[in-house]
Amino acid sequence: MPVQSTLIGPGGQLYADPKPSPDEDAFQVDNTSNAYYNSPYYLKHKNQVQPIPPPRTGALPYINLANYLPASLIQSINQAGRIVFHSVGDTGAAKTGKQQTAASSLADEAAVADAMVAEVQSSGEAGPAFFFHLGDVIYEFGEAQYYYDQFYEPFREYDRPIFAIPGNHDGMVFGQSSSAPQVPTLAAFLTNFCSASPDPSPDAPTMTRSVMTQPGVYFTLDAPFISIIGLYSNVMDTGGGIISSQGGHFPLVNDQLTFLTSELKRLKPQHDAGKRAVLIAVHHPPLSVDAKTGGSGGLMQDIDACCKSANLWPDALLSGHAHLYQRFTRTINGRQVPYVVAGSGGYAATPPQTAAPPAGTTIGDHTLEIDPIVDFGYLTITSDAKSLAITFSTAHRNQPVQVRDSVTVNLQSGKIITSGASKTSKQKTVKAAKAGKKKPASSR
Ligand SMILES: [Fe+2]
Repeated sequence: MPVQSTLIGPGGQLYADPKPSPDEDAFQVDNTSNAYYNSPYYLKHKNQVQPIPPPRTGALPYINLANYLPASLIQSINQAGRIVFHSVGDTGAAKTGKQQTAASSLADEAAVADAMVAEVQSSGEAGPAFFFHLGDVIYEFGEAQYYYDQFYEPFREYDRPIFAIPGNHDGMVFGQSSSAPQVPTLAAFLTNFCSASPDPSPDAPTMTRSVMTQPGVYFTLDAPFISIIGLYSNVMDTGGGIISSQGGHFPLVNDQLTFLTSELKRLKPQHDAGKRAVLIAVHHPPLSVDAKTGGSGGLMQDIDACCKSANLWPDALLSGHAHLYQRFTRTINGRQVPYVVAGSGGYAATPPQTAAPPAGTTIGDHTLEIDPIVDFGYLTITSDAKSLAITFSTAHRNQPVQVRDSVTVNLQSGKIITSGASKTSKQKTVKAAKAGKKKPASSR
């Protein structure tokens, strides 16, 4: 295979492996962490929040994409007048039942990752500039030893920075003592996404990708034409997302309300001048009709209160956690705001509730726009700061990548101008997701 030229960031960051190995079809480290659900610490504390690590000392709460991509690529994005990026959550791979093999769980994740890689490779500088991960990078307990199999190996050909907010699985902890976890919450996430410098990952030292240098587990990414405010919604599995004590219910040392409000205020002048779209990303979905978790009312109230205080509402809200694709429209002060759930990154697809309302149903201020799509896939998001387009493509094994839904919002009028499921399931011009590639036994 010829050596490819791969990006080097301005801080020396490395992304894609220049000589990628074939897909693996077995875990390098066998994933046995299902057993931790029965550990004394988890059983005693599973309905409690975990502490939120403070941001790195001296770090601003926001980072700029220009510090992660070569200046020439940033210049191309500015000249094109728009930015494109990927987003999805719940990409990890772990066996979820007796019928699932390691190979099939890895292939589910690889189908999505490979399709995203293909989109980057086929569209070059006009294509996705980064991937914003919506959490649940590593199953089941965010362990360091699984970063190779579940993150670095699947995305080894993705030649762009990958930012992430943690999901509940990244923060969940276990231990044989009921009084303290074996490993502190988010330890491996901090190592791999919130490092002080872009070094090789100690959890995947043979891989090219540098660790990410986010200021903390909640932060804002400023990119040309768009900012994404990422929140960390803690470790509850079925109890919903939590970013504050919710009136003293959850004894959080630090909440994220001050951060969210101040970031919205910081971004409001550029947003209102039509120079920057503003999105909020949070792992647990405020709105969801999935069968397992449902929505998060307390989280919704907290985010709403910050938006009211800052007098700025997001142009869209992105979530994962529910392992399917859903799209709602919420009407806020006359503006139509997509609330998109894309926990479809490859791990354990979840069906919608059997009593889920049909597409088109409006409840209060929000409408379920399409029937949920239970399939693996990812979002491609485009903005020129005047409009915002969100597309969901499926990347199932042995099938071509297909655009299944899209929505475009005019950010000046606040109205959705086009939307809907693709009538023809338009096939993307990127290559089909790879499937079934075998790794030579001697390659690793
Ligand atoms: Fe989750």
